[in-house]
Amino acid sequence: MESPEGLERAVYPGSFDPITNGHVDIILRGAKLFPRILVAVLENPKKATLFSTEERVALIREIFKDQPHIEVEAFHGLLADFIRARQARVVIRGLRAVSDFEYELQMALMNQQINPDLETLFMMPSAHYTFLSSSLVKEVAALGGSVRGLVPETIERNLREKFASTSESSSL
Ligand code: PNS
Repeated sequence: MESPEGLERAVYPGSFDPITNGHVDIILRGAKLFPRILVAVLENPKKATLFSTEERVALIREIFKDQPHIEVEAFHGLLADFIRARQARVVIRGLRAVSDFEYELQMALMNQQINPDLETLFMMPSAHYTFLSSSLVKEVAALGGSVRGLVPETIERNLREKFASTSESSSL
């Protein structure tokens, strides 16, 4: 059955530096609601990241390699423009706690202002991921702690390699 216009695919944007199991959880929940999910990885030359845009895209593609309805692409510039260019209308964002709300509301309203056809859909991750963030994962991994169960295995491996090859952790 065909989806109404613009609802064939929802866009899930973020920095994903790196993707965590909380993000994966939201993607899988979104995939139950929309035929396709487009994971949109922000390319922001002004922000130092631990993983390059290419690495972040490749890692997420690897995680979802057996799920062709989950697509991954880098984007730069305005999210609202990217959404329009992909003929989508829905942005999915995860909400972990009340503390996320203010920033997310601001972003959703700004995106709505830029593109009134765009809708932001907030989804809650499973309760055991509500404390999880990419920054905390990086901090723990940089200090030699275990992030098993908090990120996909490939991310765990890549974090170990990153921190084995760099002694400093300037992009935390
Ligand atoms: O994972 P993050 O860092 O919380 O994701 C933030 C993201 C990528 C969704 C946001 O920074 C974004 O959409 N950036 C693109 C620039 C843009 O459209 N800015 C205006 C909307 S507030």
